[in-house]
Amino acid sequence: MKRSLVPLFVLLTAGLSLPQALAKTVELSSPDNTITVSINDDKQPNYQITFNGGTVITPSKLGMLFKETHGFGEGFKISSVARNQVNANWELPWGERKTVNDHHNELLVTFSTERDEASRYQVRFRAFNDGVGFRYEVSKQSGLEQVEIIDELTEFSLENAKEATAWWIPARGWNRYEYIYDTTDVESVGNAHTPFTFKLPSGTHVSIHEAALVDYAAMTLKQHRPGKLKADLTPWSDGTLVKTQTDFKTPWRTIQISKDAVGLLNSDLILNLNEPNKLGDVSWVEPGKYVGIWWGMHIAENTWGSGEKHGATTSETIRYMDFAAKHGFDGVLVEGWNIGWDGDWFNNGDLFNFTQGYDDFDIEKVTKHGANKGVRLIGHHETSGSVTNYRDQIPDAFALYEKHGVRQVKTGYVADGGDIKRIDDKGIVRKEWHDGQFMVNEYLHSVTEAAKHKISINTHEPIKATGLRRTYPNWIAREGARGQEYNAWGTPPNPPEHAAILPYTRMLSGPMDFTPGIFDMGFNGLGDKTNRPQTTLAKQLALYVVLYSPIQMAADLPRNYEANLPAFQFIKDVPTDWQESIALAGEIGDYVAFARKEREGNDWYLGALTDENARELTLELDFLDKGKRYEAQIYRDGKDAEWADNPYDMIIEQKKVSAKDSLTLPLATSGGVAIRFKAL
Ligand code: NOJ
Ligand code: CA
Repeated sequence: MKRSLVPLFVLLTAGLSLPQALAKTVELSSPDNTITVSINDDKQPNYQITFNGGTVITPSKLGMLFKETHGFGEGFKISSVARNQVNANWELPWGERKTVNDHHNELLVTFSTERDEASRYQVRFRAFNDGVGFRYEVSKQSGLEQVEIIDELTEFSLENAKEATAWWIPARGWNRYEYIYDTTDVESVGNAHTPFTFKLPSGTHVSIHEAALVDYAAMTLKQHRPGKLKADLTPWSDGTLVKTQTDFKTPWRTIQISKDAVGLLNSDLILNLNEPNKLGDVSWVEPGKYVGIWWGMHIAENTWGSGEKHGATTSETIRYMDFAAKHGFDGVLVEGWNIGWDGDWFNNGDLFNFTQGYDDFDIEKVTKHGANKGVRLIGHHETSGSVTNYRDQIPDAFALYEKHGVRQVKTGYVADGGDIKRIDDKGIVRKEWHDGQFMVNEYLHSVTEAAKHKISINTHEPIKATGLRRTYPNWIAREGARGQEYNAWGTPPNPPEHAAILPYTRMLSGPMDFTPGIFDMGFNGLGDKTNRPQTTLAKQLALYVVLYSPIQMAADLPRNYEANLPAFQFIKDVPTDWQESIALAGEIGDYVAFARKEREGNDWYLGALTDENARELTLELDFLDKGKRYEAQIYRDGKDAEWADNPYDMIIEQKKVSAKDSLTLPLATSGGVAIRFKAL
């Protein structure tokens, strides 16, 4: 359906000069008409967004500048529009739900100007019921082939930014995405990573992010003027933002919008804006649960490097494999098996060898042992940010793992922000950001190379997720926020509100390998409040449902699980692949509750957690299948539980329930609840 342009009868006057051409406005609404985007070409192409009649984004610039040629910006006029509508379902091979609905209206706006060179740019807008996405599409045209982008002009402007509250982490810092979230008014934000989530005075919740970040720099947001957040692309080491050639498309700029906090959690907008699976048959991508030789190093009981405390030995791996087999885990992660960890591994990334093991680790023996027990070795590639050293070894490294039946590799890029080391084709050492275009491509390269060996990748110190798991389903998880490891040595550790902020921020981008399930909170004594999880035990269980990942680790040492088998039962039961997921309740930074139904089964699970405040949640169980009865196996904070001095007080109880019931659940300070609804 083509609709004619809606002219706005506004005469433009630039100072005292003569009247210019008429400015045009075109509009696009979401299928349910709650969201409207207006695109206008008054002076500079711009857009604005309303939701339920209220303003979400005030007029905000569109455009980009190039180094050698003109860019797209001032003076461009809307010359034509094309419309489209989609309402279709598609399937995720693994995920929070099996079937995803993509329902949107689309408007492709062509801007042009009278110039003999590069005079035509397009911006494609999609309006969904849960938000808006738009991207720039730049075609081959006279004078425009090789392109160096030196600025993207996209803005996200707010009225009353002082009255809007944001939950955010700083961009372009040494610690990448691993910061404690700040809660401030939007005007106090400096330079922030996305997903950037805020609440307007009207109560409308908004999250700005991007989808399908491929061959482009990550977008961070910079306060350009009070209330005016501007796209700030992470540069290359030579200062250029993006090096590309026509035709090209930018990632989608996304604005998720909801009347409440929970609505953001039930949005599939990011996935809907990614391309379908490009890998074909991905039955070899295996969601599941794992244990690993890991936490022992973080609490300094073991070392990655060789010596007396070396964790990754043949015998220790076999012990973990036996534990995994006994309790139904699919894999054992082993870190520190390969040469390169001795000495200052943070700064000696060039020494890592990804095919040669230490003498006390026999990969053949451990993988054979695992195969007999139905447990796979999970591989590990720590690069310490020396990416040229890694890239050169990738073919052999993945071939070795494939040969030994490894189906999943955790990669790591421990290096300060801006300190990724690459050697260019002249042999010169260049230092790049984790989220610049070079690394965006490098991470994807590791994923597509891994796919050739039927290996899935779990990236630590990653580029943020932008929904590429739809296109490359073997990109199974990543870190990209402060995970459990900070509770071993974080100083400070993750505060009680951390897991009550993550769902509304980091998790909107995709699965996180947080590694839940620490049972021994007192590895330094409970009194050491700065080197321990600041949670109750029940909250550790709740994390398995709240923080979605198709792979979940039981992160603690086997002996701590053996010491509390009744609580461990929940970790053994909880699936990692879901038919359906529903966020039930929550407020950002305060609490959250999720219900999820297992794939290929009838059981439902529920996880809820709170910040430093104890609270009582009453939840309707109307998500349960109608007419079915369930045994609710409830793991909840006990009467005296509180995170600081009494984290272990937990009650395990059973109740018969159906969809007609509700449950009132007490959550302790930094507490939680985990429930399996076993279908009867
Ligand atoms: C940081 C990762 O997040 C952690 O999980 C890993 O153990 C270390 N790097 C070593 O690779
Ligand atoms: Ca990390």
